[in-house]
Amino acid sequence: MENRRKIIMDCDPGIDDAIALCLAAAHPEAFELLAITTVTGNQSIEKITANARNLAEFYRLDVPVAKGSPVPLLRSPLPAADVHGKNGLGEVELPQAKKELVSENAVAFMRDLIMNLPEGEKVTLVPTGPLTNIALLFRVFPEVKERIEEVVLMGGSASYGNVTPTAEFNIYEDPEAAQIVYNEGVPTVMCGLDVTRKCGLTRNQIAKLAQSKGEVSRRIGDMLGFYLEGKSYKHAPMCAIHDAVTFMYLLHPELFKGERMPVTVECSGGVNRGMTICDRRWWLYDKEDCPVCVLLDADELKFQEYMIEAIYEMDERLKS
Ligand code: BDR
Ligand code: CA
Repeated sequence: MENRRKIIMDCDPGIDDAIALCLAAAHPEAFELLAITTVTGNQSIEKITANARNLAEFYRLDVPVAKGSPVPLLRSPLPAADVHGKNGLGEVELPQAKKELVSENAVAFMRDLIMNLPEGEKVTLVPTGPLTNIALLFRVFPEVKERIEEVVLMGGSASYGNVTPTAEFNIYEDPEAAQIVYNEGVPTVMCGLDVTRKCGLTRNQIAKLAQSKGEVSRRIGDMLGFYLEGKSYKHAPMCAIHDAVTFMYLLHPELFKGERMPVTVECSGGVNRGMTICDRRWWLYDKEDCPVCVLLDADELKFQEYMIEAIYEMDERLKS
C-alpha cells in the first residue's frame, strides 16, 4: 500500500465527477484519497458540496470534504442544469451523508494538508471542475507547488469545444483560473475533450447498468441515462464520462497518447472565451520545457472495460 498515490480531488459533482469518484473508490490499492474539495461549476456550491458528501459516504470513503469557491475568480457562475439536472446528479437521489464538512475554506484546507505531509511526500491534484480553487491555491500559497507531484485535470481541448464551438465547460467557466494553472510550471496532464469525448459507455451498456440490481450500477445507469436524454447527446451512440479519464489515466497511462506543448487560455470574453490554445508547433520549443502534457488519443474499448469493471466492483463492496 506504500506506493499508493496521495490524491486531492477537486470537483463539482456533476454526473461524471460522481462516476470519476467511483473509479477512484474502486482502486484503494492505487489511490490514497486525502480529501475531496468542491468548486462551483455544474451547480451551485451548496448543491455540489452536498453531492460530494453524499457520494463519499455512498462509496464508503472515509475522506474529509471541504467546501471551495462559490464563484469563479472574475466571472459569474453559469451552472449546467440542462446537462446535470437541478440536483447536479441527473435527479438521482443518494442517502444523506452524516459526516460534517471538514472546512468551509477548501483552499486553506488544501494548503495545510499539503504542507503537513511528511517530508519528501507529494500529492497529486485531480481537478474535475473549473480551476478556481487550484488557481487560488497556487497564487495565495505558492509554497505548495513544490509538494505537488502533478495536476491531472479534466478540461480544455486541442480541437473543438462543447459549451461553445471553441471552449470546454470547465475552462469556459473560469478562464482566468485556468490560465494561471496551466502556466505555473507545475507538471500537468490535460485530459481534454480530444480524449474524454471518446471515453464513455454505449447506450446498451448504460441501459444494462440501469437495469442492474446493484446499488452503484443502477444509480450510475440512471445518471448516465439522464445525460443521454439531454441536448448534449441527442444524436450520440455513446455518452462520454469526461471526468473519469483523470483517474483512468493515473491507473492506465498506457491507454493514452499525449504530447507536451504550451497551453494558453483565451481570457478576452469574446466568442473564443475559454478556448485552450494548444501550440502544436513542436519545432519552436523544447518539449522538456513544457510542463503541460495534452492527451490526444485514447483506447476507448479498454476504457469501457475498466470502467464497467470498477462499477461492478463497487456494487460488490457495498454488499459486504
Ligand atoms: C466537464 O464539464 C462538466 O459539465 C463535466 O462535469 C466535466 O467536468 C466536461 O466538459
Ligand atoms: Ca466536472
